[in-house]
This record gives sequence, C-alpha cells and structure tokens, in this order.
Amino acid sequence: MCYEFRMTTELSERAARHLWMHFSRLAGFREHEVPVIVRGEGCSVWDQHGTRYLDGLSGLFTVQVGHGRPELGTAAHEQSDRLAYFPTWNFAHEPAIELAARLADAAPGDLNRVFFTPSGGDAVETAWKLARQYWKLRGQPSRTKVISRFLAYHGTSMGALSITGVPAIKTPFEPLVPGAIKVQTPYRYRCHDCGHLDACTLRCADDLELRIQMEGPETVAAVFMEPLQNTGGAFAPPEGYWQRVREICDRYDVLLVSDEVICAFGRLGYVFGSQRYGYQPDMITFAKGVTSGYAPLGGVMISDRIAEPFLADTSMFLQGQTFGAHPVSCAVANANLDLMERDDLYGHVRRHEGTFRSMLETLRDIPLVGDVRGEGYFYAIELVTDQATKGAFDDDQAEWLLRGYLSPRLSEAGLICRADDRGEPVITLSPPLIAGPDEFEFIVSTLRRVLGDASVAFAARR
Ligand SMILES: Cc1ncc(COP(=O)(O)O)c(C=O)c1O
Repeated sequence: MCYEFRMTTELSERAARHLWMHFSRLAGFREHEVPVIVRGEGCSVWDQHGTRYLDGLSGLFTVQVGHGRPELGTAAHEQSDRLAYFPTWNFAHEPAIELAARLADAAPGDLNRVFFTPSGGDAVETAWKLARQYWKLRGQPSRTKVISRFLAYHGTSMGALSITGVPAIKTPFEPLVPGAIKVQTPYRYRCHDCGHLDACTLRCADDLELRIQMEGPETVAAVFMEPLQNTGGAFAPPEGYWQRVREICDRYDVLLVSDEVICAFGRLGYVFGSQRYGYQPDMITFAKGVTSGYAPLGGVMISDRIAEPFLADTSMFLQGQTFGAHPVSCAVANANLDLMERDDLYGHVRRHEGTFRSMLETLRDIPLVGDVRGEGYFYAIELVTDQATKGAFDDDQAEWLLRGYLSPRLSEAGLICRADDRGEPVITLSPPLIAGPDEFEFIVSTLRRVLGDASVAFAARR
C-alpha cells in the first residue's frame, strides 16, 4: 500500500471514528468512505484522492470569491501578527470599526450600527433578543413573539431554531422557545390560492397580517424573513410581496428583520438582498459571504430608530460573545469586500444570472423536473413524480431518489450541490460568484445526464 493511499484512507477512517459531521447520518459512513476535501481553487475543490468537484453550493452558500484566494490568507496573517484577538466588550479595534463603517455605508437607509456575532444563527438569536429588549425599553414589554415563514431555516440554537420553520429538525428538541409563529411561504408552484392565476394575489403576504391580528399586535416583536427563501427551494418573492410585508409591519408597529445570512454579499447581485427588492428592514442579519468563509463571522445591522433607546443613560444591550467581531475575521471580511468591489462581483452576478437561469430552464423537458426557480446565483429545481399533476414523492420514493440515487451520482459526476427534501425534493445551486458560462455548462450538462438517468430509473422502479 503506497504511503499516500494509506494517508487518505486513514483520514477517512479517523473522520468516521472521531469527527461528528453536522446534519449527517453517521451510520452511512460505516459503508461509505467519508469524503475529505483537501484543497480548493476558484470554483473547484479536490478530495483526498485527487478527484475534482465543481463546488455548486459555494461550500454552504458562503465562498463568494471562490476558493484559494491568497489575499484573504494574507489579511488574516497580517491581522494576527498585529492583534490576533481582543474583545469588543467596552473596547474597539480597527478591523471591526472599519468593517462596521463600510457595512453601514453599503446598507439601505439608516442601518448605521453593527453588532458582530460568530455566526449566522447567533445573529438571528441576537436580533430576536435585541427586538425583545427594544420593546421593553420602549414600554411595550408584551411584544415578545416573532413571526417567520414555514420551511425557512434560521439556525439551530434554541431561539433561532424556534424561528426556523422546518418541523423535522425541530421536534427532537421540543419544547422550544414559545412565541415563534409561522406564516405562509410564497410558493407559487404549489399555491392553492392563486397558483392557477396569471399573477400572485399576495395572499401569502396577507397571511402575515392575519397572524399578527390573531396573536394580538401588542404581543408581536418582530418578523424574520429571508429576501429569497432558501429552504424548500429558492422561493423568490412575487412582485409587490416585500412592499406588502413592509406595509403590514408598519401598520402594526412590528420590526422587520431581513435574514440575509445567504442573500447578502452578492448572492442576489447586490451587497444586501433587500436592495434587490427595494425594501427597508429595521435589522439585517448576515454571516457566510461577508468573509467568503475564510473566517467565521456574522452580525446584525440595526437602524438608528432601534438603536436609539440603547443609547440613553445607563441603558445597555445585554448581549455579548467572546468571538463576536473577532479581529482576524473582521480583517478577512474587509479584504473580502475589497476583492468583491475590485472585481465587481455584484455586477458580474447581475450580468450573468440571466444566462444561468435560462440554461437551467432547459432542464424542464426532463420528466422529473417540476419547477426551476430562483434569482441571482441562487436556484432550485423542484422534482416531481409527474409533471402534469405536479405529483409529490412519498417518503420512500424521496429517500430512494435523493439519498439513494441523486446524491451519490451527482458526486460521482463531480458536482457538489444539494439534493434535499426539507420541503418537497429539490436540488439547490449557489455557485461561487466568480462562476460564468463554463461552470454553468458543467452544472447543466451534469444535471441533464444524472436527472435524465434518474427519470428512467424512477419510471422503471414504479
Ligand atoms: C437564512 C439563514 N439564517 C441563519 C442561518 C444560520 O447560520 P449559521 O449556520 O452560521 O449559524 C443560516 C444557515 O444556513 C441561514 O441560511
């Protein structure tokens, strides 16, 4: 056995023995080797055997500028030489100040203050706590509840998980934090209200008003929604959706939190996803793409109006984390945003998204493909048993299709993407923002081959 082979086999074996992979069925690694990713460059990553994959998911909706950018490593190195760590508890440091100021400049309206966190889930948790304390300071202590959308993912800590709308990942941890209410998702493909009409009637947005009235407006603190919802499959807002949501929030004095952990930093062609749809949030939560994943960082952007009561007298937001605003992460974020501006990745996404979308649309002739949706560099393909009836898979069929067939074959074909059924089965794509027609071609031709074969195999299995 050659040394290199032993090393790679050993790595997988040690991973299977000691490393607890997230959201992973560990028993599966008794039969299958743990894939170990050892290197990345541009839109590609390589595993321990030297096999190359196109990273069609940017790691986890994160690696905006692509893999292997030395500028970001240099920024981390230089910052750790200068000041590796210091907290922002009553102190400030240069990279955090610079980053907060540039994010405030880039954000819509008066979102002028940033509270940094170590991750996206922490940002969501922090925004809910901020909303609760804000209302207590404003003399409305009963405003504690939050409203979010069915199927939406907002994180896994107990507060963020309560806001999350995916039943399957919540039930094992119940009881969760009370007062987290769910409303409809704009799901035009399967909408019973207006899916058969030419245009959306915005009943999905009006569901928010109904819930606020049912709960009692004086009990609702905030609404959390993504600009374009990931889980369930890239649900883009229908025309006028966000304007209606903003109006409803204003009518009942409920804070609007735009969870842009995925949708910020170019994923939709703008610095912030809310800018694409032209609405003004009271807070924005962000993470992932702010550093392109070269270091962990998240945060909450807060409007002057929400910050105001925290600036008076002895008032203080009672929240803090050792690794919020980590200097190395902030320095990496600054270097990452420099790169994105220098290479105009925002413009690049806007210029190329139409090509990506129309290439994906060509897959609609494959029997398993029900819908293709999304915007920017963020798409989902919903799979159906039958195109005419939009037939849904039962649990056994979905298990066979997603985990038994598609995931291994897409991986064998060298494409990393997500084949998942937190709602109906969908394949999600969000490549690095440097991707262009060559990468789209690889993605679409691979999907055509694998989904085409899967359609035949599914028909034979029935
Ligand atoms: C919209 C949204 N919010 C929050 C989170 C949680 O972020 P993290 O995994 O950094 O805790 C995610 C993670 O994917 C997300 O997509």
